[in-house]
Amino acid sequence: MQETIYELSVPLMTALVADLHDQPYSEVLRSLRNHKPDIICVAGDFTHGGFPSSGLKMESTQYALSFLQECTSVAPVFVSLGNHEWLLCEQDLAVIRSTGAAVLENSFVRYQNVLIGGLTSARFTAYRTFRGGFPSETYPRPFLSDTKKMKPDLSWLNAFEALPEYKILLSHHPEYYTAYLQDRKINLILSGHAHGGQIRLFGHGIFAPGQGLQPKYTSGIHQNLVISRGLSNTALVPRLFNPPELVYLVPANQQSSES
Ligand SMILES: [Fe+2]
Repeated sequence: MQETIYELSVPLMTALVADLHDQPYSEVLRSLRNHKPDIICVAGDFTHGGFPSSGLKMESTQYALSFLQECTSVAPVFVSLGNHEWLLCEQDLAVIRSTGAAVLENSFVRYQNVLIGGLTSARFTAYRTFRGGFPSETYPRPFLSDTKKMKPDLSWLNAFEALPEYKILLSHHPEYYTAYLQDRKINLILSGHAHGGQIRLFGHGIFAPGQGLQPKYTSGIHQNLVISRGLSNTALVPRLFNPPELVYLVPANQQSSES
């Protein structure tokens, strides 16, 4: 796993955690304990999609729930939902909150002098709407919907961006940046999802879901968008020349005064 440290004009030292996909996390946790960030931002896909065989989805995870629990012992944790969280129901979100993590489901919270929001994946939002037709079922199926027609819920963003504080937005999908976010008054947007473009050649990823071939947003800093290449390295997500990545954003004056 690669640790990437960016020096930026952020008010808090921020760890950007994305795409754990319910995989082992000991190296990630060791790094977090070592770097001691002020906040940990989990920008989606901490679970892996698919119906649980029994019980609640979050309680059937192998690593995701305990990972969030462990993270809360390091720093305040803020969780936004990615496409792989599409199945999570209200009880699942309550299970996450029981760890002490804040769930930002198309909502924001104030922490110290910063506002931290989470723009939920449209896949979650679409399934939540579908679920409304089956109020007695925890995980109704089948869910057939055209991913390309799914839109995230932007209705809360006007109120978020109108506030004067420094604003961090967790948006799992980096492709939402040009579609919905780049002209908004948000200081910092944190994304994952693209897995660095799976295979990286000459510093560029070759494919990302939602962006297709030769994707633009797979890694690094693009204006006020920071993208993690993600943490998981599974057979389902082959990576080449593209190690998993944990990103830290360090306030510019803090980095220079310590070095
Ligand atoms: Fe994703």
